[in-house]
Amino acid sequence: MTTLLPDDRAISSSSSTSSGDWWRTAVIYQIYPRSFADSNADGIGDLGGIRSRLPYLAALGIDAVWLSPFYPSPLADGGYDITDHRDVDPRLGTLEDFDALLADAHRLGLRVIIDVVPNHTSEQHPWFLAALASPPGSPERERYIFRDGTGPDGSEPPSDWRSHFGGSAWQRTPDGQWYCHLFAREQPDLNWDNQQIRDHFIETLRFWADRGVDGFRVDVAHSLAKDLSHPLRSQPHLDSRLPLDGSDPLYDREEVHEIYRSWRTVFDEYDPPRMAVAETWHPTSSRTYLYARSDELGQVFDFSLLKAEWHPGQFRDVITRSITDHAGVDGGLTWVLSSHDVPRHATRYALPVGTDLDAWLSSNGTALVIDEETACRRARAATVMMLALPGSAYLYQGEELGLLEVADLPTDQLRDPVYERTGHRLKGRDGCRVPIPWTPEGGSFGFGDDGAWLPQPEWFGSCAVSVQDGRPESSLELYRQAIALRRELRAAGATGPGDADISFAWVDSGDPQVLRFARGDGWECIVNFSANPVPLHGEVLLRSDSRPGSLLAPDTAAWVRPV
Ligand code: GLC
Ligand code: CA
Repeated sequence: MTTLLPDDRAISSSSSTSSGDWWRTAVIYQIYPRSFADSNADGIGDLGGIRSRLPYLAALGIDAVWLSPFYPSPLADGGYDITDHRDVDPRLGTLEDFDALLADAHRLGLRVIIDVVPNHTSEQHPWFLAALASPPGSPERERYIFRDGTGPDGSEPPSDWRSHFGGSAWQRTPDGQWYCHLFAREQPDLNWDNQQIRDHFIETLRFWADRGVDGFRVDVAHSLAKDLSHPLRSQPHLDSRLPLDGSDPLYDREEVHEIYRSWRTVFDEYDPPRMAVAETWHPTSSRTYLYARSDELGQVFDFSLLKAEWHPGQFRDVITRSITDHAGVDGGLTWVLSSHDVPRHATRYALPVGTDLDAWLSSNGTALVIDEETACRRARAATVMMLALPGSAYLYQGEELGLLEVADLPTDQLRDPVYERTGHRLKGRDGCRVPIPWTPEGGSFGFGDDGAWLPQPEWFGSCAVSVQDGRPESSLELYRQAIALRRELRAAGATGPGDADISFAWVDSGDPQVLRFARGDGWECIVNFSANPVPLHGEVLLRSDSRPGSLLAPDTAAWVRPV
C-alpha cells in the first residue's frame, strides 16, 4: 500500500544548518496519539502504532509530524494534563519506544515535533501534590498560583478569573486557600515568576532536543507571564480580542517574550536549530506574530483561517490580514484548517454561514442535516487552496480521509472536560478525536485489533485508508498529489535553500465569489465559491475535483499556470 522513500530524503542527525529553515514551507501532520493507531489491542493509540504507520505518513509526502502529548497523564484533558514532562505514558509506550519512533521517522525523511505544555501541570504532578501537602506561603506552593480567598471568611474566589473550560478559574483547597487553573480544575497553572519553573522547562527542552526531536509546539504560549501583583486585576478578555499594548493581566503580556528569547538560545545550540510554533487561541492580531520573531519561536499558529466560514470574503480577509500583519516579522507563516480542538473542517464548511457550531453539535448534528457531498467538495477545495499559500501548512490526522466530525457521540461516552465544566452546555471536542479508520472492517476499522476508546460510527469504514488508497478520485489521493506537486513546484521555483516563499498577490478574478491569487513562482490558485462554473485558462496543474475540462465547478479549487 505504501512506498518507501528514496534514501536521499532521510534526515541524518548531522543535517547541515542550510536545512535549518525547513519548517518555513513545511507540511506538518498533527497526530493525536491516542487516536491514531493502537499496537496492542487495548483500544488506546500508542507510539508503537504511530511507528508502524510511518511509511503511510512518508508516502503522504508530509515533512514532519507533530505529536500531541504522549506524556504520563491522568487524562483530565486528553493528555494536556501532565505528571512528568520527560517520560512517556506507560499506556502509550516507553522512552525507548519514543527513540525508536524518532529514529524510524528520521530514516524516512520525516521530522518530529512534540508538544510542550508549560502553562500548567496535572493536579497529580508531584509538585502539585507537594504543594497541597505544604502550608500557605511555602516554596512548594510558590511553584503554582495559590491565594487566599476574598469575602469575610475567604470563601469567595481571589478574583473574577474564568476558566476556558467554563466556571471560575479558582479552586479552593481543603485548608481554605485557592489555586488558579485557566483550564480544567485538574490543570493547576504554574507560576512563571518562579525561576525553578523556568529552569525546569529549559531542561525539558534540552531533554527532548538531545534525543533528536526537531521542534516544539508550545501550548497556550501567550499565557505564561501573568500580572500576579496584589490586588489581582480583573480579567476582561477570556476569549475575546486582547489589547494591543500587552496590558491584559493574563495573556500576551510583554514579559512573555523574554521567556521565548531564552528558549531560542537553547534551540540555537543545536544543528540544525530546533524549530518551535506557538499556540495562542485568542483572536489573531498584529501582536500574534511577535511570537514568530527569529529570536523567539519562529512560528505561531494563525487560527484565523480555521475560524473562517466557507465564504470568499472571510477567506480573503483572513489571508490578507495574515500576510500583511506578518510582514516585518522574520518568522514563518502558518495555515491550519483543522485540529484536535475544533469540529472538522469538512463539517464546518457544509453548515450555512453564521451557524452556531456549539448548538449544532449539542443537537448531535440533527438541527441541520449536512450534505456530505458539499462537505467533501468544499473541504477538498479549501485544502488545495491552503497548500498553495506561502508558508507552512498544518494538517490534522484524518482530514486527508475527508472525515466529517462525529457529531452524535453519546453523551455518556464524552471525555472532554468541557462537557461537564459547562454544565453540559457545550459538547466539547471529542467529535474530532475519534480513532481514525484504516480498513473498512475489523473491531475498530484497523485502528487496532479490538475496540477503540471512543466509539467509531459505522460510516467510518467507507472512509478507511485502504478503501481510498489507489483510487484517484479519493480524498487521500488528492492530498498525496497536492503535497507532492507543492514540493515539486517549490523546488522548481525556489530562489535558494530556505527560500522564505512569501511572494503572494491577489489577482482580480472579475467575480467576488471567485478568489484568485498568484504565487511568485509562476502559478496561480483559483477557488470558486460561486454557484456557477467558471472558465479556467492556462495549464491546469491540479484540481480539487476529478472532472476534466476547462470549467471550474462550484466549491472547487485549481492550480493553474497561466499561458
Ligand atoms: C491547548 C490545547 C488544548 C488544551 C489546552 C490546555 O489549547 O490545544 O487541547 O485543552 O491547550 O492545555
Ligand atoms: Ca494501545
